[in-house]
This record gives sequence, C-alpha cells and structure tokens, in this order.
Amino acid sequence: MVRAFYHEDTSTLTYLVWDPESRDALIIDPVLDYDVFASQTRATSADEVLSALEQEQVNLRVIVETHAHADHLSSAQYLKEKTGAPIGIGQDITKVQSIFRSIFNFPETTPTDGSQFDLLLRPGEVQHFGTLAVLPLPTPGHTPACLSYLIGDAVFTGDALFMEDYGTGRADFPGGSAEALYHSVHEVLYSLPEATRVFVGHDYRPGDRALRFESTIGREKASNVQLSQATTEAEYISLRQRRDRTLKAPRLIYQSVQTNVYGGLLPEEEPNGGRFFKIPLNRSAPTNRAGAPLASSKEPNNS
Ligand SMILES: [Fe+2]
Repeated sequence: MVRAFYHEDTSTLTYLVWDPESRDALIIDPVLDYDVFASQTRATSADEVLSALEQEQVNLRVIVETHAHADHLSSAQYLKEKTGAPIGIGQDITKVQSIFRSIFNFPETTPTDGSQFDLLLRPGEVQHFGTLAVLPLPTPGHTPACLSYLIGDAVFTGDALFMEDYGTGRADFPGGSAEALYHSVHEVLYSLPEATRVFVGHDYRPGDRALRFESTIGREKASNVQLSQATTEAEYISLRQRRDRTLKAPRLIYQSVQTNVYGGLLPEEEPNGGRFFKIPLNRSAPTNRAGAPLASSKEPNNS
C-alpha cells in the first residue's frame, strides 16, 4: 500500500509504504517545515505522517531518503526520535558530504563518512525491513548519490524522474551530471517492466494542472517530455544543460543541504543557546568586503 503526502510549499512528495499483511512500513523523503523568513522549523507535516502510522496501524521499520534534498529540510531525525526507526540513504552520500563540507568551509573534523545515517545503502543489494523487500537502484545525476527504491511493482524515483509532462530532475547541483542522469533513467529505470508504477519525488503541476505523482514506466518511456525512450544522450544533455541555465537556485538550498547531508540533523547548539545556519555569500560572483566584484570570477574551490 502507498499513501502520498504533498508538501505544498516545496512541491515535495513524501510516501508511506506498507505491506498490508504484516503492516511493516517505511517512509520515503519526509519533510520538516521551514519558514525561511522567520527561520523557524515546524514539524506539522512530519506529525501528519506520524498520525498516518497510527491510522493505518503500521509498524515503521525504516526511513529512507532518495538523496540529500536541496529544496526542503528532512524530518528524518524527528521521525527517528519519535519512532526509533533507522535512517537510510545511498552510500555515495559520502561524496556529497565532502563536496559540501568544502563549500561551507566546515571544519576538517566534520565527518564525511556517512556516520550521521544509520544505514548506507548499496545500489543493487536488496534490503529487508520486516517483510518489506526494498531494492535500491543506482540513479545518480541529480546528485551523485541518488537512489530510486523498487518495492514490489512500485519504484520511487526521487528527483531522477518526474511525471511525463514535466521531465526529470535538474543536473546542475555540485556533483550533478546530465550524462549520468540520462543513463540512470534510460538504462536503469527504463529497463524495469512497463507496468511498474512510478512514484515521483516532486510534482510542480505544470500549467497549473491538478497534482499528479503516479505514472508507469511504460508511460514515461512513451511520453516523458525531456527524456523518453526515443531521446538520445546528446539530445538530453543539451536540453538539460540549456534548461538548467534558466533555473534559479532553490529557495532553501543552503539551509536544506547543510541539514540533509547530515541526515536531517539541525546545526549544533552554540554557546548562547541558539542554532545557526551558515549561508555562503557571492559564490558564483565573488566580491571583496565592500561588494565590489573581484577581477577573477573563479568559483571558490568546491571539489
Ligand atoms: Fe532533489
């Protein structure tokens, strides 16, 4: 069984998936609400998912992330604290942690070994959570660590593949790759049986249509507007790069990334009792302290 929760503010889909017989359940990509102007988090959306666990009378076995999201904060830690369920993510999160430790200039002592998560999942290795069998599929490109999760006849694609009238995720974040995303969709997802149900990680409701979050591999292959079965690698890479140049940075990118690469842990408490996000300034066009552009527009070292 699948129940979807739509987070209006960030167009994110969270899923609760369970085995109707054993009632063993997992949660995919839960959201922590965050008001950027007040810089205040709230657990309203996470509490809705917690109530659903009770309504459906299921036992939560695990919380998994498809990737470290750049547009919303994860409530995985909150849900873990409330339920005791472990948190899993793709093992290549370590690469993403290294990239962002450097971008944020976090201390060298900040671990980049994935130890903030309970489970580092290896693509291709079936995981058993109670009676649920979950196959993590390698679908990098949006980030280098993205996984899709195949559970029975349903695949949860995160930001690799969206509804066919929208396309795919973007590939211009640090460590992203249009080429990798092409292969993830064309070779990994499109080799699944056509009847496989697809549950997407976001729905941006193009043309203001009603919310849609479920498709099939057959429908995606036939008609995904950015990457169908017929799209060549060269066509996709050129389209993806052109499109990504027109996209703004996600509104919550810095707050999201510094939370989510650490499994949803908020910043540590500082001596005055507060918690503080760190926001890079002028990364793409550096200036001096007066705001005057620097001669070299080279990005700061972020590899
Ligand atoms: Fe994402």
